[in-house]
Amino acid sequence: MFKNLRQLASYVGKYKIYAILTPIIVSLEVVMECLIPFFTADLITYVQQKYVVSDAILTKWFISFVESIIPGKPLAVVGGYCILLILMALTSLTFGAVAGITCSKASCGFAKNLRTELFNKTQDFSFENIDKFSTSSLVTRLTTDVTNVQQSFMMIIRTAIRSPLMFIFSILMAFIRGGSMALIFVVVIPVLLFGLIFIAKKAMPIFKKVFKKYDALNASIQENVHGMRVVKSFVREDHESDKFGTASQNVANDFVRADKILAFNNPLMLLCMYAVMTFVCLFGSQAIVKGDIIIGEFSALLTYGMQILMSLMMLSMIFVMITMSAECAKRICEVLNEDATIKNPPSPVYEVENGDIDFVNVSFKYSERAERYALSDVNLHIKSGQTVGIIGGTGSAKSTLVQLIPRLYDTTVGQVLVGGKDVRDYDIVSLRDSVSVVLQKNVLFSGTIKDNLRWGNENATDAEMERVCTLACADEFIKTFPDKYDTYIEQGGTNVSGGQKQRLCIARALLKKPKILILDDSTSAVDTRTDAMIRKAFAQEIPNTTKIIIAQRISSVEDADLIVVLDDGKIDSIGTHSELIKDNAIYKEIYESQTKGGKME
Ligand SMILES: Nc1ncnc2c1ncn2[C@@H]1O[C@H](COP(=O)(O)OP(=O)(O)OP(=O)(O)O)[C@@H](O)[C@H]1O
Ligand SMILES: [Mg+2]
Repeated sequence: MFKNLRQLASYVGKYKIYAILTPIIVSLEVVMECLIPFFTADLITYVQQKYVVSDAILTKWFISFVESIIPGKPLAVVGGYCILLILMALTSLTFGAVAGITCSKASCGFAKNLRTELFNKTQDFSFENIDKFSTSSLVTRLTTDVTNVQQSFMMIIRTAIRSPLMFIFSILMAFIRGGSMALIFVVVIPVLLFGLIFIAKKAMPIFKKVFKKYDALNASIQENVHGMRVVKSFVREDHESDKFGTASQNVANDFVRADKILAFNNPLMLLCMYAVMTFVCLFGSQAIVKGDIIIGEFSALLTYGMQILMSLMMLSMIFVMITMSAECAKRICEVLNEDATIKNPPSPVYEVENGDIDFVNVSFKYSERAERYALSDVNLHIKSGQTVGIIGGTGSAKSTLVQLIPRLYDTTVGQVLVGGKDVRDYDIVSLRDSVSVVLQKNVLFSGTIKDNLRWGNENATDAEMERVCTLACADEFIKTFPDKYDTYIEQGGTNVSGGQKQRLCIARALLKKPKILILDDSTSAVDTRTDAMIRKAFAQEIPNTTKIIIAQRISSVEDADLIVVLDDGKIDSIGTHSELIKDNAIYKEIYESQTKGGKME
């Protein structure tokens, strides 16, 4: 637990100065707070014993100081005490306020650094890493978990310094002022410690579970908000509400269970506090009657007793908070310590020579634990500049196959070569710049059309953007928008149609001037005429680019140099349209189903 907290503490970075200043200022505040009852007791004693000076060095020094200014007037000493106490209270207040500011600067800065680091880390994650954590869990870790750790950090540098210091000082002062009566405070400590450890041990396992349920809650929100339109069109609001309700109830139940245990914390504290006070009053009053101690010392003892118990109470709260955030810290460290599964090789190749692609005995499964291979024994050789169609039923691993080319996943067995070299030998950025993929689940981001296109090339000129949009048949509809290329695209591209979105995604991919262009079902929402126009433009304008087209429609791939038929993760056949239509049962079946009664589209 402490290993994780220590690792996280290193993210304080430039806010370290505030993290160091806070405990120092807090210590000064504690000293002031402990001196106030000391002088108050002196004042009471001084007045009660008809201006007899006590033995304490501080007191003697203070009284001789006041008498040197106004000699022979005991009331001036009383006034001096009042001024001193007010000054001490104000100083303590100022220290408290300054510590509050430095503490908040340190903890907010720490949380900012931690979030940034986590975010940057997730940017380096491969698809496999993301699959492992799940998106919703990553969101919880970056938000709720960081907030909890931030609060703990705040407590550690402020309250966790203040409470033990206050405790030690108050015990010391209690012994100085109250003598052996202060032993009452010592007796109660083991009782409290035992109680607190017992409570924390019981609550810890519940907190462990509750954060997993938080992930489920976030998953439910994310999925619902993301798919709101589908939810509405299928009138699934009630079902979704129920699902969310269950996830929310689960979190609530666990918190209630944890709180039921933690609820003993406060009563236990109060029980000890009142028991101690009762004993102090009982023995104290007897001692006063016997003349063993005087009222001033008794009042100091009561105040220190309060401070001791308050600091123990704060310590117990810190204990709970740290118990809770230890689990969050662990979850954050899991992300920080996760090795990106796809990394640059030690001496990477920066130049992709051409668009040749070779799959050599490739088998692939999505995770080590998966029983089934998504792809098995794939051997495929594509020459630079060729157009290759990939066809097959849903789930036949078409998308899986092409995701291996830009190294979105690494092969489990075998090799994928691009331009004659293993994809694992390339610098990832160079490889992905040369291999442009229009993913099946593509997204546009909020911003203008130009902003979105520039994802393909930051420095693209207007003329270049228009050229690629013409190639992707997007120019024709962009020109009909009032703001043309400056039209604002809403988050997720909700204000453009499915077909328009696909064409914008193709244009964006083309802007990279890739050596290999992969379209994963990217024209499924585009009408057949426009689909044909796009393919024709590709053939004429980018003849040297290797083009891989995954499609459900035979018409999208029939002109291709090669067509690969995939079936259940294996290559069933490779050939041209005319060859496959003769020899391949699957291809023939798809063809016939689409042409029954003439061309269906
Ligand atoms: N991220 C993933 N994690 C685990 N399994 C996956 C993942 N993505 C896909 N699969 C599995 O791999 C197999 C192939 O999926 P893939 O998406 O490649 O099929 P596809 O041919 O592209 O289908 P479609 O035509 O529907 O797009 C399926 O059985 C699928 O369940
Ligand atoms: Mg697919």
